[in-house]
Amino acid sequence: MSYYREVGQYYDKDAVDFERRYHLNPALQRIRQSFRERVKLHPQSTVLEVGFGPGFDLVHFAEQFPEQQYYGIDISEEMVRLTQEKIDTGKLINAQVAPGSVEHLNTLFPEIKFDMIYVFFGALNTVDDLSHAMSCLRNVLKPGGRMVLTFVNKYYLAGTLIELLKGKPKNAFARWRRVWGGYSPTNYLASKCYAPGSICEKVALPLTYSRGYSIVYPAWYYHKLHKILPNALLHMLWSIDDAVSSTKLGTFGEYMLYEFQSSET
Ligand SMILES: C[S@@+](CC[C@H](N)C(=O)[O-])C[C@H]1O[C@@H](n2cnc3c(N)ncnc32)[C@H](O)[C@@H]1O
Repeated sequence: MSYYREVGQYYDKDAVDFERRYHLNPALQRIRQSFRERVKLHPQSTVLEVGFGPGFDLVHFAEQFPEQQYYGIDISEEMVRLTQEKIDTGKLINAQVAPGSVEHLNTLFPEIKFDMIYVFFGALNTVDDLSHAMSCLRNVLKPGGRMVLTFVNKYYLAGTLIELLKGKPKNAFARWRRVWGGYSPTNYLASKCYAPGSICEKVALPLTYSRGYSIVYPAWYYHKLHKILPNALLHMLWSIDDAVSSTKLGTFGEYMLYEFQSSET
């Protein structure tokens, strides 16, 4: 089976209760809010989302900014169906979605160039070849356009220490391998985690901003920690993350956000 068929089928299954799980997870909600704020900082009129899942952000932005045009691609037919349903229900004439990966952009949305491309929560960890995927995205970016790209990070230091303390060295270094099996211990998804330097090299555009998430604030999947730690402490850990997120320490977070801008010519 081709790699993208595998990824598509994985997320078709994942789509069943993706939204329910998300709404039960305050850490993911907090991080998404921060991602959205970064996207909104920049002027934009024609926007592409890669890997929109059930459409949380594409639909949110299209509702909030009716004068802007939103396009989205996702490799999972089921995610496309869920998002199309929301677009139809909301009568959003400024949003269009299609099934596929970045390599198919030329045929999915021919002739369209974007001034903002964003990827939230992981779609670029499951592309065949990140350098090629990035050249496809650069080809459809307008001069002066921006990309806000987020990735599961390779060097999640606190996670490595927690897993070592739990006596699970295999988990501790899982992201360091050539292929990472994804977040689920029971449902394998061949993915790749990249070091921050290698991402910048493959994107091959000037980096304008970067930050890490969950440096000391527990990663979204440490459900027990989120349950037992008092809210005031979680809040403090989030504030510490905020303070150090764009320093060298930020590069040891569970998740990374990078912003790039193409030159004006
Ligand atoms: C973890 S989900 C995140 C969904 C959504 N962005 C969010 O923030 O909730 C990753 C999404 O990316 C899609 N995806 C994964 N690899 C992809 C690829 N190579 N091209 C397009 N979409 C992809 C999946 O189908 C899934 O919907």
